[in-house]
Amino acid sequence: MLSISGLTKRHGPRTVLSDVTFQARPGRVTGFLGPNGAGKSSTLRILLGLDRPTAGTALIDGRPYRKLPDPIRAVGSMLDGSGAHRSRTARNHLAWVARAGGVPKRRIDEVLDQVGLAGAGRTRVGKFSLGMGQRLGLAAALLGEPAALVLDEPVNGLDPEGIRWIRGLLRGHADAGGTVLLSSHLMSEVAEITDDLVIIAGGRIVATGPLTEVIAGHATLEEAFFALTGADR
Ligand SMILES: Nc1ncnc2c1ncn2[C@@H]1O[C@H](COP(=O)(O)OP(=O)(O)OP(=O)(O)O)[C@@H](O)[C@H]1O
Ligand SMILES: [Mg+2]
Repeated sequence: MLSISGLTKRHGPRTVLSDVTFQARPGRVTGFLGPNGAGKSSTLRILLGLDRPTAGTALIDGRPYRKLPDPIRAVGSMLDGSGAHRSRTARNHLAWVARAGGVPKRRIDEVLDQVGLAGAGRTRVGKFSLGMGQRLGLAAALLGEPAALVLDEPVNGLDPEGIRWIRGLLRGHADAGGTVLLSSHLMSEVAEITDDLVIIAGGRIVATGPLTEVIAGHATLEEAFFALTGADR
């Protein structure tokens, strides 16, 4: 369970998050949707212990990230692509993440296979396409067989086949009892992937609930999104 409560973040005079509260539950894929600059990455960075809130809490299984006894098994994350150094091979990158997290080496081949990069383990990350980089980022997120996945814009850069593939992977994770929280500004993809929706605009939550409830009263998720956020079309 991921539980965000009363999260506020200020950068000097600018308030980028105001009283952000929502949960992402086991067995569900939760989509975190909002226009550019809405505060999605800021929220996820705080959840993953990469930034500190001005007020409020962001808890993973009841604890802040920094207090997790075995973080790599509690939550796998992907922010800004793979984060791998260009001169490293995919396998070297994963070996480094595995070692840091105390994950057995055999997991490296398992996750490379799982994300469709089995043939690219010895390729340097600098030669990867955008989609391959996303797959490598996911491989790293999956290394510790984590209960929760927190993914910032995982669909970016994926082609239609890649989008279908990631949808299946995330569905499988949730169906096995895992928690999935993914951010996106791409509504059609989100509508097809998620069970629950959290919509943020201008640093404030404007809607939360099952996808069908959030859309209710609107023709499409897109219509609901523009009505709720007041974003320009
Ligand atoms: N270190 C910082 N100092 C000042 N402002 C910041 C800082 N980091 C983020 N912001 C601001 O916080 C707001 C929210 O940014 P954030 O990256 O969380 O949005 P986002 O929803 O992830 O957007 P996108 O869809 O473009 O990724 C933006 O207006 C951004 O300029
Ligand atoms: Mg972002």
